[in-house]
Amino acid sequence: RYPAKVKLVDVGPRDGLQNEKQPVPAEVKIQLVHMLQDAGLKEIEVTSFVSPKWVPQMADATEVMAGIQRKPGVRYSVLVPNMKGLEAAFPSKPDEVVVFGAASEAFSQRNINCSIAESIERFAPVVEAARAKGIYVRGAISTAVGCPYQGEVKPESVELVARLMKEIGVQHCGVADTIGVGTPRKVQAAMEAALKHYALDDISGHFHDTYGQALPNTLACLELGVWQYDASVAGLGGCPYAKGATGNVATEDVVYMLHGMGIDTGIDLDKLIDAGKYVSDFLGRKPVSRAAQAILTR
Ligand code: HMG
Ligand code: MG
Repeated sequence: RYPAKVKLVDVGPRDGLQNEKQPVPAEVKIQLVHMLQDAGLKEIEVTSFVSPKWVPQMADATEVMAGIQRKPGVRYSVLVPNMKGLEAAFPSKPDEVVVFGAASEAFSQRNINCSIAESIERFAPVVEAARAKGIYVRGAISTAVGCPYQGEVKPESVELVARLMKEIGVQHCGVADTIGVGTPRKVQAAMEAALKHYALDDISGHFHDTYGQALPNTLACLELGVWQYDASVAGLGGCPYAKGATGNVATEDVVYMLHGMGIDTGIDLDKLIDAGKYVSDFLGRKPVSRAAQAILTR
């Protein structure tokens, strides 16, 4: 039995845009967030408080957070890699912060410039300080099935990072296929590893679509009862430290699949497609969503 309801977090403004070479003005990002909340998204990953030398596109994090007219019932999350990021994020009053680690040592070094063990040490005070202010803390485990530098990643590595995150008080665990190499059974194994330390209600999937596997991987995790997923409007995105990896699964495609299965998302697909078209027009390309393309040319 599949879950009756699914919660989708749109990570387009963050994961989607972090990788864009051309500057995207803060007002475009803000408008995108407004269109996503209008479409019924209940959580939006807005931006990252990371080093602007590492990810220049997210340098306007404070400005973007300040420009959003918040809608009641919607949660606004931001990435923070360390205490500096958390302190920079505090005035923006995020509902949720995301610490991001990895199941592969090589990716941890390239993405956040430290080992897995060091990352946990860095996250511990971040988790404590965020929770002391009543901010919910999510953890992302990157390269949960495969790493661009190290190849295949074993479920045991995912289990270890999930355990370490749990030990320092991270409340939610996001299992991420950063480079979209996973296939359904492998992704299920990674999810099951995380489920040894996190309850079904505290776990989510984050699947990039490089090999066209993100929808089947989502379906495979629905089979396990996982009911929370990240997705990116218009299929935007990629990670600057995972060359060649494409965006997340397009939110439109996930919504189309779920609604077709009678699973409730609370999202208005037509409005979501408008949001995807808005940002894709700005970037000068077509939405990387098959459902959006089909519906727009109908
Ligand atoms: P570092 O160089 O080791 O850090 O970078 P540091 O503490 O030595 O500081 C170096 C400089 O950065 C200093 O400035 C700090 O002040 C500054 P300087 O003295 O040279 O002028 N700095 C900061 N500035 C702003 N905000 C901060 C911050 N921290 C330090 N928070 C660091 C370590 C983690 C900062 C760096 O590696 C970094 O910013 N990495 C971010 C990488 C990133 O954003 N990757 C993409 C997001 S993760 C992702 O996409 C995966 C995900 O989608 C899931 C999936 O698909 O797998 C979540
Ligand atoms: Mg990602």
